Amino acid sequence: MKGKKILIGITASIAAYKIATLIRLLIKAGAEVQVIITNDAKQFITPLTLSTLSKKPVYSDFVKNDLGEWTNHVELGLWADLFLIAPASANTIAKMANGICDNLLLATYLSAKCPVLFAPAMDLDMYIHPSTKKNITTLESYGNELISARHGELASGLIGEGRMAEPEELFSEIESFLSKKKDLSNKKVLITAGPTYEAIDPVRFIGNHSTGKMGLALALECYNRGAEVSLICGPNQLNLKEYPFNTIEVQSSTEMYNACIELFEHTNIAIMSAAVADYKVAEVASQKIKKKDDTLQLELTKTIDILSSLGKLKKKQLLVGFALETENEKSNASDKLVRKNADMIVLNSLNDKGAGFGGDTNKISIIHKDKHVIDFDLKNKKEVAVDIINEIVSLMN
Ligand code: CTP
Repeated sequence: MKGKKILIGITASIAAYKIATLIRLLIKAGAEVQVIITNDAKQFITPLTLSTLSKKPVYSDFVKNDLGEWTNHVELGLWADLFLIAPASANTIAKMANGICDNLLLATYLSAKCPVLFAPAMDLDMYIHPSTKKNITTLESYGNELISARHGELASGLIGEGRMAEPEELFSEIESFLSKKKDLSNKKVLITAGPTYEAIDPVRFIGNHSTGKMGLALALECYNRGAEVSLICGPNQLNLKEYPFNTIEVQSSTEMYNACIELFEHTNIAIMSAAVADYKVAEVASQKIKKKDDTLQLELTKTIDILSSLGKLKKKQLLVGFALETENEKSNASDKLVRKNADMIVLNSLNDKGAGFGGDTNKISIIHKDKHVIDFDLKNKKEVAVDIINEIVSLMN
């Protein structure tokens, strides 16, 4: 942290008081801190407190009062090694996501070349509103790092998600971001994600509830660590085209298999997080199946097992599988590892609350070839992705 230049942007939220402690921690660790504050945020914390702690003037306007002097937002963005926007209000997040630039903080954000971290703080319903969620996803797709809001008591008295991370947590996020090596540079990573849809007739399919969020979190983590990423994803609502890596969208297990085979030879790490359908109909009806009898029988045949196929083709690649189990979790997952010739299996148990499809959290265990198992706590999917990639990197080394 010594000598690092940290730019902090403060927007209007009661959580602004936490930034005083954060600045003290950063200065104590030897960092230089420059603060930009929006005018509304001054109602929550004074520029005098911030300038005293940071030992630098605090900026909020394009023109410095009475001096007729310009605050150069481009220079501020170039000066910083890292820009933390905390607390990041719903309003500022929405503006950042849409290129709106009506104050110094936003102009600095738009012109900054350094990595940007943002820590939302807002009321529960604002945080879970689809527009806020979409704006946060958009910022992540720009490569900005989210420091998720925590669960807890909010200023409104409500209890839920929306509380900004504590100053000590913000400090350690900054510290780990700055020390994070690009440990996947020169590596090609292939990730499968989401469900597959196996057609029954022109309007119906066999599918499942997978959303692809876990695979996307893995892709973002690999990309941030310097990898060349290809994400092959089944039907999803993730706006994948917005992301800065190669995305291939497919429908069926056969399409997913073909896309994997094309890339696998030149891949260093393959992570199979997709929930691939195990069966498809033996013969897809060319016309919509009409309702006739009380029962209908469909003949199903096995789909190609992509993980097993790659396990057979594997030379130097590191191959990671997922397993979703409901009983005898660890022994079933270990069997899968051997059967499919994987190097590592990430196990989700449906018996764990918060794990499985759809949600923003996951609880995993990682099973290695030598049968040693590491159990992780319930975490959000971004943190789970960090744990998985850390394990892969240590296995590679
Ligand atoms: N998988 C795959 N191709 C398939 C089925 C599964 O590549 N046709 C991969 C998944 O992406 C995952 C792993 O295999 O990495 C395990 O998937 P899972 O559904 O848990 O296991 P199955 O082999 O389908 O076994 P079972 O349904 O009996 O648990």
